[in-house]
Amino acid sequence: IPPREVSQVDGIVLEKNICNTWDKVWNFQAKPDDLLIASYPKAGTTWTQEIVDLIQNNGDIENSRRAPIQLRQPFLEWFRRVTPGIDQANAMSSPRTLKTHLPVQLLPPSFWEKNCKIIYVARNAKDNMVSYYYFQKMNKALPEPGSWDEYFETFMSGKVMWGSWFDHVKGWWKKKDSHPILYLFYEEMMKDPKRVIRKVMEFLGKNLKEEVLDKIVYNTSFDVMKKNPMTNYINDPEMNHNLSPFMRKGVIGDWKNQFTEAQNKRFNEEYEKHMADTSLSFCMEL
Ligand code: A3P
Repeated sequence: IPPREVSQVDGIVLEKNICNTWDKVWNFQAKPDDLLIASYPKAGTTWTQEIVDLIQNNGDIENSRRAPIQLRQPFLEWFRRVTPGIDQANAMSSPRTLKTHLPVQLLPPSFWEKNCKIIYVARNAKDNMVSYYYFQKMNKALPEPGSWDEYFETFMSGKVMWGSWFDHVKGWWKKKDSHPILYLFYEEMMKDPKRVIRKVMEFLGKNLKEEVLDKIVYNTSFDVMKKNPMTNYINDPEMNHNLSPFMRKGVIGDWKNQFTEAQNKRFNEEYEKHMADTSLSFCMEL
């Protein structure tokens, strides 16, 4: 698989194939009962997807695991598969659960027009960056990340695929004031998964028994999802899990093993500037 060529839409780096057929994404027709899971890459998307899937299926692991998660919940701006994400979504019967990494300003407008429910998941920038670095190494269809020091600069400049982490998390955070968006944090999911799962359940208008919730907590734990071929991307031809597994570490604060002291200082200074205009705040360590 040759590394993916990139281009830009409104200054946001995206796969070239997406940019070349951008109209198709932009004109996507959402339906009122669509559920959208949105995130910056590596924020805990798959984890959220699996939680949603199990809630929708009343905790039924057998039924919900018939196919890998990426086939059950189309990834809108994915053009590499035999069936591109958009076509996959168009062919799917309702109610649909869809996934996107688009920044809020690039989301197809019909999601707003149809007032679709959206679940957004965000993760602290430092861990998100480290996770993205290892993902770009192991996913041979993504641009080569270069050395860690080089990647650090690319990430800070926002010239990574799907754009700047800062703009992404802030943009979606602001949008939730005017639209039904459930905004989740990776760190709160780690600290109290059951509380978050209950929140998602209520947002979806479901009512599940305590024992079902406990079962979902168990089946969406890192260790169980790591072993589950329906959630660990083990059969994805683009990924080389020998370089770094998709289910890599699943912890808060791994950035401490990666950032130099100088990088951390620089990061903290820039972070403060970028985040000065938002009420959004993150937990970066336990
Ligand atoms: P790490 O690389 O830090 O381990 P995404 O699904 O958005 O691509 O995010 C992937 C990240 O979420 C990876 O982070 C992965 O290990 C972590 N992850 C996936 N499932 C998880 C779970 N059940 N619990 C905790 N972390 C999980």
